[in-house]
Amino acid sequence: MINVAPILEVRDLERTFGSVVAARDISLGIPAHQTVGIIGSNGAGKTTFVNMITGYLKPSKGQIMFEGRDITGLPSRQIMNLGLSRSFQVPQVFASLTVFENMCIALGLAEGKPGLFNRAVMPLRTPAILARAEEILAQFKIAAYRNALTGKIPQGIRKLLDIAMATVGHPRLVMLDEPTSGISIEEKFGLMDIIMGALKARDMTVLFVEHDMEIVRRYADRVLAFYEGTVIADGAPDTALANDKVKAYIIGEHHVQSSIPAAGA
Ligand SMILES: Nc1ncnc2c1ncn2[C@@H]1O[C@H](COP(=O)(O)OP(=O)(O)O)[C@@H](O)[C@H]1O
Ligand SMILES: [Mg+2]
Repeated sequence: MINVAPILEVRDLERTFGSVVAARDISLGIPAHQTVGIIGSNGAGKTTFVNMITGYLKPSKGQIMFEGRDITGLPSRQIMNLGLSRSFQVPQVFASLTVFENMCIALGLAEGKPGLFNRAVMPLRTPAILARAEEILAQFKIAAYRNALTGKIPQGIRKLLDIAMATVGHPRLVMLDEPTSGISIEEKFGLMDIIMGALKARDMTVLFVEHDMEIVRRYADRVLAFYEGTVIADGAPDTALANDKVKAYIIGEHHVQSSIPAAGA
C-alpha cells in the first residue's frame, strides 16, 4: 500500500488582525509531491496562509501538521530546518553581493556556518559548499550571472536566485509567494519552467501563489481559491477555475483589472 498521509495538514486555521479576518476555517491536506496553485484577489489571505505555515505569523486558532509533526507556532527557522521552506513576493537577497556570494551565504546558513556572512572569513567556504553552489546555480540556469551584483540583475534572475536560495537545505515542501510577480507575460512561462523543473527534479511538494490563470492551469495539479480568508474552491484546475464563485470573485476581477483599457484610451 502507498502511504497516503498528507505531507501538510491544516485544521481550522484562523488568523485575525483586529477586526480583519485574514484566515478562517481553513482545513485541508496536501499529499506529498502535489503541485498546488493558490489563487485569490489582493487581500484574500494568500500570504497570510503562507506566513502561518512557514512560521512568519502565529495563527489565532488551529493546527498545522508537517510530516505528521505539529509545527503550529514554531519559529520560521526551525520550520525551515524541518524541511519546509518558502520564497517571498519580494526576493530576499543581498543586493550588494554577487549571485554566487548570495548562494554561499544561503548554503552556509543551512549548514549552520553563519561565518560565511563575512567576506573576511571567506576561507571558511568549503570545497563542498562551493561545488554545491555551482550545482544549484546551474540547476536554476543562472550560472551566467554568478559574478553579477544581485542588485543589478534582471528581476527574473533575482526571483530564480531567491527560490534557489530557499531550496539549499533540501526542503521536502516549498511555498512560493507570487514567483512570477513583476515578470512580463512573455517571460513567465520560461521562468516557471525553470522553477518547476528544478523543484520537481528534487521531488519537492510545491505550493505557489499565482494571479495568472494560464500559469495556474499549466503547472498546478490542484487549485486552492481564497476569498476573504476562506477557501471557496479546492480541486483540479479545470473544476476549480470553472467554479461560479471563483469566476465571479477572482477570475472576473482579475480580468477587469488586466484587460479593460483605461477610460479614454
Ligand atoms: N500584518 C498585518 N496587519 C494587519 N492586517 C494584515 C496584516 N497582514 C495582512 N493583513 C490583512 O489581512 C488580509 C489578507 O492579507 P494577505 O494575506 O496579505 O492577502 P493576499 O496575500 O491574498 O493579497 C488583508 O485584509 C490584509 O490587509
Ligand atoms: Mg500576498
